[in-house]
Formats: sequence, structure tokens, C-alpha cells
Amino acid sequence: MAIEAVVFDAYGTLFDVQSVATLTEEAFPGQGGLITQIWRMKQLEYSWLRSMMGEYEDFWSVTRAALGYTLGALGLAADAVLLERIAHSYNTLSPYPDAGACLAALGGRRAAILSNGSPAMLAALVAHAGFADLIPEVLSIDAARAYKPDPRAYALVEARLGVPPARVLFVTSNGFDVAGAKRFGFTVARIERQAPAALAAELAAGPVGPATMYRALRTRVEAIGAPPDFTIAALAELPSLLSGREWA
Ligand code: LAC
Repeated sequence: MAIEAVVFDAYGTLFDVQSVATLTEEAFPGQGGLITQIWRMKQLEYSWLRSMMGEYEDFWSVTRAALGYTLGALGLAADAVLLERIAHSYNTLSPYPDAGACLAALGGRRAAILSNGSPAMLAALVAHAGFADLIPEVLSIDAARAYKPDPRAYALVEARLGVPPARVLFVTSNGFDVAGAKRFGFTVARIERQAPAALAAELAAGPVGPATMYRALRTRVEAIGAPPDFTIAALAELPSLLSGREWA
């Protein structure tokens, strides 16, 4: 089956959510690591809760609410200006160092983003990274008002690109997104940035810091079935995965 479109998750896949840690640490010295991880975990949790409750609000609202929750949980006070400034760091995340070269080497296939991010957040991210020409089709689940892994979110790919799921290679590092995309019918390439043995060794060595805990919770393959078709260690490996297959 030929792959006609390569569709990327955004946060954690093309763009490094850990890059907010510089600002969270600057705003709250000594607490940046915890803030960064709790914030990201709550952000995803709130996206799922909102979908399940049928109470959709966009990802910018979810991101700010999750940040407010996080600071409250840690007993930290932030006025509206500081909260907004920290939240905006999600709009200027660093791309992974190999993201641009990967996007430029997809062999003429259509490339798109399908992300939970709101249209404005994604536009800001893509512009900040200078990726507008590399990835012209940016799909926000906002059009479906349902967050991944809800099938209505993944269905936007065929609705917008006209490419059926079986002809889509979906690329993500997020465990829940691997399971959701695979269950939906995409061919899935998972980015595994840390080898399982290295993560296990880090966890066993302790003490376990917040970033390690985050990776243990959110970047492994979920134990709910629907494993990925391919696992690669970095975006840099994607072009050769594409060209090396008979469906290339
Ligand atoms: C996204 C989240 C899942 O970009 O990382 O949709």
C-alpha cells in the first residue's frame, strides 16, 4: 500500500515540550522541572476530560488551565501577566534539531501536522520554527472539537487531505497518540527518543526526577494494544524508513 501522506503530531514529536523549562525555571527557581512535567501531564489530562465530558474548549484554554492547576498544586502564585507569559512559551517551543531536515526529505509526499493545538497556537509554532514552506498543511483538531485519541480528530486527515487512513504514515512520540492513530487505521511510526533499557536504568538508579517520571508515563508504548508499525529513534531516521520500504 503506497503511503501518500506523512502526518506528524506536533507537541513532543516535531516540537520539544521540554523547552518551556527555561522559562518555568526562570520564573520559579528550583521548581521549573516539576512545573514543566505536571503542566504537560495536566494539559493532556484536561484535553481527554473535556472530550469525555462533551465540554470542548480549545487547547490554548486547556494549556492555561493546566498551568494554573500546576502552580496552585505547588503553592506558587502568579499574576495574570506572568501566567500568560509562561503559557505563551508553548507557542515558541524549539523544534527538535532534526525536524527541519526530516520535513525537507520526505520525497515529495504530502506532509501535514495533525495536532491538539489550536489553529493560532500551531500557526505560531510553525512560523517560529520557520517551517511554513516545509509543512504547508496544518490541521488542528479544533475543527472536530474533539481531542486525540478521539477518532473524530484523526478523521480530519481524510476529510482535509483526501487521503484514506491506510495511505497515511502517522508519526508521533506520544504513547496515547500511537495507540489512537493505530486503532484508527493509520500506519504508525513511533519516535522512541530514549531506548527502553536506558529509561529502565534511569528509573532503577533513582532518585527519579520529574522529567524521568514524565518519560516513563507518556513516551512508552501503552499497554492497551495497538502497537506501532515502526519504531525509530529520531525524526532523522524517517526519510530512510520511507525510502527503504516497498510502499515507498
Ligand atoms: C499534539 C499533542 C498530542 O500535538 O502532542 O496533538
